[in-house]
Amino acid sequence: MRILLLTHAFNSLTQRLGAALQGRGHEISIEFDIADSVAEEAVALFRPDLIVAPYLRRAIPASIWQRHVCLIVHPGIVGDRGPSALDWALQEGVAEWGVTVLQAEAEMDAGPVWATTNFPLRAAKKSSVYRNEVTQAAVTAVLQAVERYAANELPTPLADWPDARGRLRPLMKQAERAIDWQLDDSATVLRKINAADGFPGVADSLFGIPCHIFDAWPEASLAGTEDLTGGAVIARRETALLRRTCDGAVWIGHAKREGDFKLPATLAFAEQAADLPEVPLAGWWRVDHATWQDIAWEEADGVGALHFEFYNGAMSTSQCRRLREALAWAKTRPVRVIVLAGGVDFWSNGIHLNVIEAASLNDGSPADESWHNINAMNDLALELIDSGEQITIAALAGNAGAGGCFLARAADLVWARDGVMLNPHYKNMGNLYGSEYWTYLLPRRVGDEGARDIMRNRQPLTARAAVEIGFSDACLAGDGDAFRIDVARRAMELSAAPDLAERLAAKRERRAADEAEKPLAAYREEELAQMRRNFYGFDPSYHVARHHFVRKSLASWTPRHLARHRDLGWTVPQ
Ligand code: COA
Repeated sequence: MRILLLTHAFNSLTQRLGAALQGRGHEISIEFDIADSVAEEAVALFRPDLIVAPYLRRAIPASIWQRHVCLIVHPGIVGDRGPSALDWALQEGVAEWGVTVLQAEAEMDAGPVWATTNFPLRAAKKSSVYRNEVTQAAVTAVLQAVERYAANELPTPLADWPDARGRLRPLMKQAERAIDWQLDDSATVLRKINAADGFPGVADSLFGIPCHIFDAWPEASLAGTEDLTGGAVIARRETALLRRTCDGAVWIGHAKREGDFKLPATLAFAEQAADLPEVPLAGWWRVDHATWQDIAWEEADGVGALHFEFYNGAMSTSQCRRLREALAWAKTRPVRVIVLAGGVDFWSNGIHLNVIEAASLNDGSPADESWHNINAMNDLALELIDSGEQITIAALAGNAGAGGCFLARAADLVWARDGVMLNPHYKNMGNLYGSEYWTYLLPRRVGDEGARDIMRNRQPLTARAAVEIGFSDACLAGDGDAFRIDVARRAMELSAAPDLAERLAAKRERRAADEAEKPLAAYREEELAQMRRNFYGFDPSYHVARHHFVRKSLASWTPRHLARHRDLGWTVPQ
């Protein structure tokens, strides 16, 4: 079938659905929901058999749903309606939640049901539940709905659904999210901030300045200690602030001041945070009690795992430098295999565009900050490439994009969890050329032409497709926990393999031969010459694209490489 994806953005859920439908042989095109007339034009051009709306912020116009079957993906159980579905479920701590695929009708979310999938609801950040459980359930439900539609089945009216537990819930207001720092215990504070992450955050204030807060973490060492100061900020650690609750404290990782954009909390309040005591961790070792720790090391049986839990997978200059330091230290440990485990939701999305943009808030230079950040990324990638004493594995439990994909490729092996989406290209960010030694790493895997295609086509890759084209080495089934266990087992097998010494020797020889043919420094210099142009040249595209990305400007058109129906040759029928 021809299926039009009508969506607010080409987010990872939309990417997964597009890939899953294509995998079933359907022809897919994408249109962003910009205006009714644009959507109508897309429908006229593509003449779809079916329209699927994975992520919409407003209703589909009647002119479309009255003439075409439109399947809406709603992140709620059957009967649930309203724009804050996941927020309510998380805030109220329900045990089970779901995704329902309904047909668009006049009343929002009230159309007949085509398919639904439930899952146990994890007490986690909303954005994390969305990228994991919701995305997985949405793929299952949409595929089922599409099959039913193709088989000429009919959907079930909501009223006839046997055990619809959901109900209409209003938009969750900030008053309902508000934290009472005198009365709310740490568990309540965590639940409220989780239910609002990564949008809209909880409206609050820090140091007496109004802001929205995000990205909360527990702090076990203060648990059970009563506090009467009502939310005093008492310490800092790297990018996070420690704030008292009535029975302990929580870490606040990110904040957005009014009129600004989301930033690491210690950067959003740099002046105030400077006066706070820093409470560093003792080292890289993973602490076994709950606390905020972005970089953590574990080792057992000759295998070490380096975790880096950077919010949204974005890696600032200082985060790259700290991670490089941790990796250099890891290489001195008695391990033969190093797993780069990344974070739960993201492995890496490359340089930190928000931190770069923030340079402009303080009369600094985003161009300079971009330059520092890409150099720090490159130093980190180099540390990884240059690891002749260990086999390195990038284990992607979560998505990776842009420079983050090539940082992963700097490892000897790339293993991705089935369900992970990779976007190994840079051009979407204002025609950025990219660095991270991609010109060395990519062609070796996919050939020169393959590399050119990947960069030019700017398409997302599923974990499976990445193996098929040679970008990565394995796609491992299972959820996050199963993936970690599988990776640990395979890494242990590698470290115990009788031919490990030969493998390492071969790796060193290959690297030396590559270096003799063309030094890594030359690749870096060539890439950075292009990046210098992106950052400092007369064409401001990268700065403009970053500005819009960070400030979440609404799209005003659908990129041509996604809107296939707008390719030359498609015409509106008379
Ligand atoms: N720097 C700062 N923030 C980033 C980021 C980056 N490099 N990449 C993603 N984010 C943030 C987004 O702004 C968003 O923020 P939110 O907390 O306000 O929601 C969040 O991460 C999730 O991004 P989203 O686009 O919703 O995630 P996704 O999984 O659906 O899509 C990508 C993933 C990779 C397609 C998309 O995030 C992207 O294009 N990122 C930019 C990559 C890039 O160009 N990096 C710089 C060049 S190396």
